[in-house]
Amino acid sequence: MNKNLELYKKYFIDNEFERLHLFELLRDTYQIKSAIYLGSFVHITPAFFYPKTAFIDSDRRVKQFFEDKEVRQMVIKNKQYREDPEIFVAQQNYEKPLPIEVESFDLLISQYAGFVSQAGKNLLKNNGILLANNSHGDAAMAHVDPEYELIAVVNHTKDTWRISTSDLDSYFTPKKGLHPTKSEIQASMKGIGYTKVANNYIFKKVN
Ligand SMILES: C[S@@+](CC[C@H](N)C(=O)[O-])C[C@H]1O[C@@H](n2cnc3c(N)ncnc32)[C@H](O)[C@@H]1O
Repeated sequence: MNKNLELYKKYFIDNEFERLHLFELLRDTYQIKSAIYLGSFVHITPAFFYPKTAFIDSDRRVKQFFEDKEVRQMVIKNKQYREDPEIFVAQQNYEKPLPIEVESFDLLISQYAGFVSQAGKNLLKNNGILLANNSHGDAAMAHVDPEYELIAVVNHTKDTWRISTSDLDSYFTPKKGLHPTKSEIQASMKGIGYTKVANNYIFKKVN
């Protein structure tokens, strides 16, 4: 196995952290055909489910990983659609300008990588979907952003991910005090304690 395939195996397969079912569930629930993943590292798994994907990460291993022919073969072997995979990669800070058409993706993926909801908002189509967890406070950031509306939450038990749309008003209630503002979230770069939490949150981009 070459070093790029080994890298994917080490971080995602061996740790049982590919999140395959999550990306499949999003595809089936929201008819996702294209996704942009800021702070992806080498988590190429969304390309198994969506014909058009873009991965942006500043890590020095990223470009060679996504451009590796054997990695592309892995995508071709695992893909669940008919088309040839269209995969774009940029090894850079995602806060710098990206050579990507605005409002061109159905899904923006934010997983453990900072304020992706803000940096990638203009790349997401109107009514597009943001998947965010709150590890760096990005779900909290989307919650205080009037251009995003919470439409569902996702919870995870061993191999299964479940989307729920019930009691959405009960999320983002701080255990103590008032909810932090955008600038307070930005300054702390971490989530705060809530009375009820989900593994991931799904927002719709609204105008
Ligand atoms: C903890 S890893 C998470 C990787 C992947 N999202 C996952 O869930 O497995 C965070 C990644 O975000 C990237 N990252 C964080 N801030 C970034 C930025 N401003 N621009 C580009 N990449 C960034 C890091 O290089 C790193 O690869």
